Amino acid sequence: MTRAFNFSAGPATLPEQVLRQAQEEMLEWNGVGASIVEISHRSADFMAVAAQAEADLRRLIGIPDDYAVLFLGGGATTQQALLPLNFAEPGQRADYVVSGHWGKTAVKQAQPYVDAHIAASGEADGFHDIPAVAQWQLSKDAAYVHITANETIHGIEFRDVPDVGNVPLIADFSSSIASEPIDVSRYGVIYAGAQKNLGPVGIAVVIIRRDLLERAGQPRADIFDYRSHVARDSMLNTPPTWNWYLAGLMFKWMLAQGGVEAFAKLSQAKSALVYEAIDGSGGFYRNDVVPAVRSRMNIPFFLADDALNARFVSESKAAGLLALKGHKAVGGIRASLYNAMPLAGAQALAAFMRDFQQRNG
Ligand SMILES: Cc1ncc(COP(=O)(O)O)c(C=O)c1O
Repeated sequence: MTRAFNFSAGPATLPEQVLRQAQEEMLEWNGVGASIVEISHRSADFMAVAAQAEADLRRLIGIPDDYAVLFLGGGATTQQALLPLNFAEPGQRADYVVSGHWGKTAVKQAQPYVDAHIAASGEADGFHDIPAVAQWQLSKDAAYVHITANETIHGIEFRDVPDVGNVPLIADFSSSIASEPIDVSRYGVIYAGAQKNLGPVGIAVVIIRRDLLERAGQPRADIFDYRSHVARDSMLNTPPTWNWYLAGLMFKWMLAQGGVEAFAKLSQAKSALVYEAIDGSGGFYRNDVVPAVRSRMNIPFFLADDALNARFVSESKAAGLLALKGHKAVGGIRASLYNAMPLAGAQALAAFMRDFQQRNG
């Protein structure tokens, strides 16, 4: 068996240890005589897995008691539609700060339900920077302010929590959750699809300050109501049990590695290696993001000669470095460096980049 270094943006690499444990437990789990995917979500055995996953995530991220934690089937895009339904009145204004592709999808998903106001956008400048907070056109009566903590495609990351006064700040942390310590109390809602830093695709984590659950929101079916999910411990309907279990294994693995402090150091070191290979290439490689907001998780870059892209992707693959093709919206190359990517992966990529440059520069 050869496991390559997998730089996929998501679904993404998982630790071998987690996959091996899941493999070992696949046919028969915990002495119950069946696989965990074959037992009821309402069984005491599964309920214990679910409760432990929540407890571990709370410990990992430092989630205070006045925040509810939901594990919901589906991805982050669904949450982008549920946010306005739950936290804004019909047609009420909600402010959106757009720093890349996923900020735009958040606006699109909210538009049927609210006056989705773009308070600031980096689009006119090609999404190379986050507009300065002082320039944001925030609305006094906004239901919330929405940001994307890390833009997976454009490689732009907030390095500070913006001060938006008393209006709740909602943040899409899909591609950077659990990669460094954060102060949860600065946010009204944090949400993330799991398939990057938290485990498998098919489940999303939503962390909600409990007072926001008292908001009337908009007419909606029970299944779209966060309050109902909180009241039923994310088991209003059949949850994706396998994904929940795998995410739970991932939380335990991250805690055992030293938690978010350890991943902050690791992601700093890994991303520095790749940015150094880009910045030290004399223009052979290029990343256009303003250094202060460069993402530690997703690094898009371009070769001066676009015609070399396909060779870069095929040769890197042959060298055991997978999924480096850039997203079609921006082209070029992209390296995703989530928590499960070891330092050796970033070292191998940086060495490959230098070697490729020598051979083709
Ligand atoms: C930052 C961010 N937000 C939202 C999404 C959409 O997530 P999903 O495909 O889980 O709906 C993605 C997917 O890559 C993402 O990177």
